[in-house]
Amino acid sequence: MKKILVIGSNGQIGTELVLSLRERYGNEAVFAADLSKSCPAIIINGPYVQLDVLQKEAIREYIISNEIKEVYLLAALLSATAEKNPDFAWKLNMEGLFTILDLAKEKHIDKIFWPSSIAVFGPTTPADKTPQYTIMEPSTVYGISKLAGERWCEYYHKKHQVDVRSLRYPGLISYKSPPGGGTTDYAIDIFHKATAGVDYDCFLNETSALPMLFMDDAIRATIELMEAPSEQIKIRSSYNLAGVSFTPKELSEAIKKQLPDFKITYNPDFRQAIADSWPNSIDDAITEQHWGWKPRFDLPKIVDEMIKNIKK
Ligand code: NAD
Ligand code: SER
Repeated sequence: MKKILVIGSNGQIGTELVLSLRERYGNEAVFAADLSKSCPAIIINGPYVQLDVLQKEAIREYIISNEIKEVYLLAALLSATAEKNPDFAWKLNMEGLFTILDLAKEKHIDKIFWPSSIAVFGPTTPADKTPQYTIMEPSTVYGISKLAGERWCEYYHKKHQVDVRSLRYPGLISYKSPPGGGTTDYAIDIFHKATAGVDYDCFLNETSALPMLFMDDAIRATIELMEAPSEQIKIRSSYNLAGVSFTPKELSEAIKKQLPDFKITYNPDFRQAIADSWPNSIDDAITEQHWGWKPRFDLPKIVDEMIKNIKK
């Protein structure tokens, strides 16, 4: 049995990733790890351990002694939280990555998944249908850490043959666990307000188009990438990943089709500048060519799923 460790398992992506990996490989094969003593009820169906990714020796000892062979490293500060604490964001987002890359370099781990983000792009990047290879001058501490991480992933692959794989996730939309402090969180908050019959005051302006993806698509992309034969993974920095693209106004119009009384107001805060520096939409043609990625959820389908499941 191949043993898999998900670090940052209690977060927005971690909880759903742990569930999907356990369905696929068995509950006992997938170890969840995060900072708190216990895990959310949704993932109590398998092993959980309290681990701090910044405790390098503890992480090394856990991975080596438990013969973990695959690591999904999700622990990070997201864009909005990182802007409030740049020093710590840089430390957390980089140090954990080196610990895991080094374990793979030393052949303790066979394969790593590490997520990047659309935040690697910046204000000088072409904003529409942003291609895989383009100008990358991120203006947020989060984006700088993700771009640096991408370069290190590619370096460890080329120099040390580390099998590290990565996706540039857009804003992820989900209902099973709350988002962790990103600029795209509005596209989740809005559904909770709308289904509760409450107006939503959006922290971005009505015309801020951003790339987004439904969580089911993101999890499927992650597992497909990790299961693809190594020779198909020709990009070892990180792959562009596209789903849908919409503005807060377009999202609110789509919600109003189902909840006609819903009202939105706009009150942009510091996150507006972050959103303004990111692409409007992503071109992931290369990703599709290399390992066959295709999203399944368009905006109406996302709205249906979110409203139906939050109401439940
Ligand atoms: P999240 O904030 O919801 O979850 C992160 C988890 O990591 C939390 O449960 C947190 O407790 C844990 N964590 C923090 N510090 C830790 C430490 N020192 N040791 C162990 N665990 C620690 O974030 P998420 O949305 O699930 O994102 C996961 C990854 O995906 C991050 O790297 C993020 O940058 C990336 N990403 C997310 C999105 C998105 O829209 N959610 C988009 C692009 C990239
Ligand atoms: N959803 C993430 C954020 O807003 C993008 O990486 O920070």
